[in-house]
Amino acid sequence: MSERANETSPSSPSGTGKLGILLPGLGAVASTVIAGVFAVRQGLKAPIGSVSQLDVLELGDDGSDRRLIKDAVPLADLNDLVFGGWDPISANALDAARTSGVLSDADLNAISGELEGVVAMEAVFDQRWVQRLDGQRVKSLASKWDQAMALIDDIERFRSENECDRLVMIWCGSTEAYQEPSGVHETVADFEAGLKTNDDNISPSQIYAYAAIQSDVPFANGAPNLSVDLPCMQELAIERKVPIAGKDFKTGQTLIKTIMAPGLKTRMLGLRGWYSTNILGNRDGEVLDHPDNFKTKEASKLGVLESILRPEDNPDLYGNVDHVVRINYYPPRGDNKEGWDAIDIFGWMGYPMEIKIDFSCRDSILAAPLVLDLALFLDLAARNEMSGVQEWLSFYFKAPQQAGDDTIDNSIFAQHDRLKAVLSSLVTS
Ligand SMILES: NC(=O)c1ccc[n+]([C@@H]2O[C@H](COP(=O)([O-])OP(=O)(O)OC[C@H]3O[C@@H](n4cnc5c(N)ncnc54)[C@H](O)[C@@H]3O)[C@@H](O)[C@H]2O)c1
Repeated sequence: MSERANETSPSSPSGTGKLGILLPGLGAVASTVIAGVFAVRQGLKAPIGSVSQLDVLELGDDGSDRRLIKDAVPLADLNDLVFGGWDPISANALDAARTSGVLSDADLNAISGELEGVVAMEAVFDQRWVQRLDGQRVKSLASKWDQAMALIDDIERFRSENECDRLVMIWCGSTEAYQEPSGVHETVADFEAGLKTNDDNISPSQIYAYAAIQSDVPFANGAPNLSVDLPCMQELAIERKVPIAGKDFKTGQTLIKTIMAPGLKTRMLGLRGWYSTNILGNRDGEVLDHPDNFKTKEASKLGVLESILRPEDNPDLYGNVDHVVRINYYPPRGDNKEGWDAIDIFGWMGYPMEIKIDFSCRDSILAAPLVLDLALFLDLAARNEMSGVQEWLSFYFKAPQQAGDDTIDNSIFAQHDRLKAVLSSLVTS
């Protein structure tokens, strides 16, 4: 566990009062989580897939005191959530939901008024980072410093107009083009100087992250691009005492991979290769069809196996694995991604075997509960004075951000244990 994640105050303030959830990127994932929360509030649907709402903690000396997480730790109530966001294309959450086609008309009609009320603010957007999108609803400010200040103003306006006690921000925007950190990302001073000189290495998601942390708003990054996983943002988060987390929601094929791989490892079965390919037809798929944006996603997806298999312990079993990941943009599928995995394993005396997985999933249906949980848990962390990188939230990410030098374990089971251990330490009653 990160040292900082342990910094809990003995008496955690309650989670009552309004919590504003700000989502840069009102697309498929954002509109699906908002719609789901509205439907749950009306008693129309259950929050399936949400650990914060459905999972239990085993408390007491022998673990026999089993309580729902939402009853045991002081989380914000779903009735106290208010949503806001920014988007260069969608006008509001209803528009985003209809365009992305994730939810049926019947489901949307029941909550259409509420969804229409979540109006997208004008985005900080630069097509250089997402070439496949043509943004129309964009702030006409050339200076990156002015853009950051405008976002800070948006945040404060949202806070006061909606009478929010607290806010969190979760990046649900498109995956930005691949980049390595550079000098401008070293310190807060370097980053602020870069904002003022319009440094080319500063992407829009980083401007949102800066604006959030400066406004004391916890931030999580659901996409694989760099935003808070930069030294300057970690410095700022510690300075402002703000929790941050990232990156890239763990859904679909990677979710299955991090469920399967620990199982194979547990039986000491060898792995020779893992070929993963997808077809996906939503706007995310279209953005990822560009090689620069795919490279960002590929880096995040390829990293997961090594930390689970630990080839250094068993080089004969895991030292020679061909791991390949492909995403193919195929419009007829929309948000309903189909992922195939061809897994080449070997067993006793080296005899080879093959496993095939065909997962017809719904990307945003898998991602939406992660956004809700992250919002509630980051708010909980902030109220408990836990600042900087929150490694205990690794459960939600493909490429979990590290606070220190500990090795990240990508096994979903190890991550789940760690999540629950921290939540158990925050139980108040
Ligand atoms: N759905 C999943 O299972 C999943 C899993 C992991 C990661 N992600 C990531 O989550 C993000 C959202 O996915 P999605 O399916 O909702 O995609 P989407 O394309 O439907 O939505 C992204 C939205 O971001 C907007 N956007 C782009 N640049 C922006 C900016 N600078 N400011 C504000 N808005 C901006 C776009 O206009 C679009 O509406 C993507 O980066 C995706 O890679 C999704």
